[in-house]
Amino acid sequence: MSAIGEGDYAHILPAYRTKAALSDAERIAWIRSDRWIETAQAKAVLARLEDLLTYPPRDRMPCLLIYGDTGMGKTKIIRKFLRAHPPRFDGKIGVTATPVAAMQMPAEPIERDVYGELLSTLQAPTPVEATTHRLKETCRGLLKTLGVRLLIIDEVHAMLAGTFRQQRIFLNAIRFLANDLRAPLVCAGTDLARQALLTDPQLAERFEAFHLDRWRNDRHLAELLISLAGLLPLRRPSMLHTAEVRRRVLDMTDGVTVRIFRLVESLAIEAIRSQEERITAQSFDAPDLVLPLVAMTRNVETRLMRSAGR
Ligand SMILES: Nc1ncnc2c1ncn2[C@@H]1O[C@H](COP(=O)(O)OP(=O)(O)O)[C@@H](O)[C@H]1O
Ligand SMILES: [Mg+2]
Repeated sequence: MSAIGEGDYAHILPAYRTKAALSDAERIAWIRSDRWIETAQAKAVLARLEDLLTYPPRDRMPCLLIYGDTGMGKTKIIRKFLRAHPPRFDGKIGVTATPVAAMQMPAEPIERDVYGELLSTLQAPTPVEATTHRLKETCRGLLKTLGVRLLIIDEVHAMLAGTFRQQRIFLNAIRFLANDLRAPLVCAGTDLARQALLTDPQLAERFEAFHLDRWRNDRHLAELLISLAGLLPLRRPSMLHTAEVRRRVLDMTDGVTVRIFRLVESLAIEAIRSQEERITAQSFDAPDLVLPLVAMTRNVETRLMRSAGR
C-alpha cells in the first residue's frame, strides 16, 4: 500500500483522510460506528443546557423541555452534554461531584420507580424494603451530597402510560425534587411530553420549550450533508451538496435525523461495495441498496412499482 501524500483525498476533512486508505471492511465498520455530529439545532440546545447549568440557584429555577419526534436526536444531545460534564472526584471534600444527573423515565410513572431509577442513575443501590417516602429522602440527600446542579429526565412522554392520578403524583414528585435542589429540570420527549407537562400549570409556567424541527430543504440540511461528505471514508468526492440529493434525502426520510444518518451510511457502504467510491444522485437508485428502516420503505415501494411497470 502506498503512503497517503499531500493533496490526496482533499474532499475529506484532514482529520479523517487516513480513514480513506483503510480496507473496505475497516471503512464499513467505521461508517457503522457511533459518532457525534454537531447539527445547528443540537448546538443550540447544548448552548441552552450550558446556560442553565451556570444559573445561580434560586427559587423557581427555569426549566427546559426538549421535544420532537422519535429519532430527532434528543437522547444523543443529552449524552453529549453528559460527556461534557462527567462526575469528578473532588479531593478537597473527598466526594465525587456529579454536576448533571440524567435519568430515563421508568416505563410507568410510578413514584417509587422514579426514585429507583434516579438512584440507579446516581449509581446508588435501591433498598428493596424502603418505603416510597424513604426512597424520596434518599434521593434528596444523594442529589445534594453529589452536588447535582441539573436534573434531566428523558422519555418524559412515558408518564402518559400512567393513570391520571399517577401522572399528578409524578409531576408533583419532579416539581418537589427540582424545587428542593434549586436546580433546573430538563425534560426530553415527544410532542406528547409537552402536552403532559402542560397539565401542571406550575410546571408549565417554568418550562421553556425547544422543538427539534424535522429537516427541511434549506441551508441547514445542505450543511449537514456537506459535513457528512467530509467525514465519510470514500475515495472519490461525493455529490452530497446538490439540490437533487437534498430532495432525494428528504423524500426517503421525511426529514427525521436518524433516518438521514442511516440512509447516508447505507449509501456510503454501498459506494464501497460497488467500488463507485462516491455518493451521487444516482446512488439512490442502486437496486441493491439495503435500507435499514421500515420507515424508508415508502420509497422502496415506489421503486418496486416502477421496476414492476418496466
Ligand atoms: N447529532 C447526532 N450525531 C450523530 N448521530 C445522531 C445525532 N443525532 C441523532 N443521531 C442518530 O440518530 C439516532 C437516534 O437519536 P436519538 O437521540 O436516540 O433520538 P431521540 O432520542 O430523539 O428519539 C442516534 O442513535 C444516532 O444514530
Ligand atoms: Mg430518546
